[in-house]
Amino acid sequence: MALLLAIESSCDETAVAIVRGSAGNPTEVLASEISSQIELHREHGGVVPELASRNHSLHLRGLVENALEAAAVHMGEIDAFAATTGPGLASSLLVGSTAAKGMACVLGRPFLGINHLEGHLLSPFLGRTEVPPHVALIVSGGHTLLLDVEGPGRYRKLGGTRDDAAGEAYDKVGKMLGLTYPGGPEIEKAARAGDPQAYDFPRSMQHEANLDFSFSGLKTAVLYTVRKIQGELPVADLAASFQQAVIEILVHKALRAAKQTGRQVIALSGGVSLNLALRAALGNAAARAGLELAVAPPALCADNAAMIAFAALLRHLAGESTPLEGDIHPNLPLA
Ligand code: KG4
Ligand code: ZN
Repeated sequence: MALLLAIESSCDETAVAIVRGSAGNPTEVLASEISSQIELHREHGGVVPELASRNHSLHLRGLVENALEAAAVHMGEIDAFAATTGPGLASSLLVGSTAAKGMACVLGRPFLGINHLEGHLLSPFLGRTEVPPHVALIVSGGHTLLLDVEGPGRYRKLGGTRDDAAGEAYDKVGKMLGLTYPGGPEIEKAARAGDPQAYDFPRSMQHEANLDFSFSGLKTAVLYTVRKIQGELPVADLAASFQQAVIEILVHKALRAAKQTGRQVIALSGGVSLNLALRAALGNAAARAGLELAVAPPALCADNAAMIAFAALLRHLAGESTPLEGDIHPNLPLA
């Protein structure tokens, strides 16, 4: 059994988690503490990097203490320390990784620098005994990626967005519709009362044979439509029609990726995977194709440290570690 403490501070959530696990057994999350900065950035309509990093350093110590208390373990019992080292905001990554390195250094334990996207990618399998071969669809505020996964650490990129990430499109369209930041959850809420067929927005690249995405045409189409509307915006119909387009594109490409690779499992992760309409549509499409859909519980979908701890635990159990001299990697690719 290994105990691992991980810090996530790549963007606007400061998070600390402690997990316990061993090879071939489901990993247990003993503590998962999160301090969200959403309120802090809301008035700016997006994340302000310097505010984010200063806030991480203010909250980190308290979160580590809370996590140790919630897990009922002493710092000295932790076998390895981990932190997200990329991709993300440089100054934010530095706060979390320097703190984790400091603890590892003082206690003489290994440090593991983890790719944020690997955390998302593995999150649907945290409670399971193994990570099966699968097609991974990661949809977050910064990324939209399709990968062929043979197992932990064995990733091949199949496709990605050529412009905006899906979450970014949600956030930008949210702004156009006058909704609060971040737009993703607000659009989902508004869409429930709207007609998804009200506007016929473009499904860019849907019928191209590749596995790439493009959301900027869709975003611009919403903008032009909004500009033409006089009087009060039909927010629910616009939100529902926009969301329908995003979901159709994501579902279509994920199923195409499964067909191309022959994988039997599709795993959906990242902040946008909180979207219930997306989960339902992909779940139904996968079932119709005889495939399994793996999705993480909501607490593991948005940025959190449990997913980073799980990715780190798998690497730690495989005998890996990262030198303390290792740098952060703001633009770190996953594959
Ligand atoms: O993974 P995440 O927490 O942070 C990044 O690594 O980017 O993802 C945040 C993104 C934001 O763009 C947010 O609007 C989106 O996830 N999001 C949603 C929903 N909840 C969060 N998008 C659509 N529907 C939601 N319910
Ligand atoms: Zn994320």
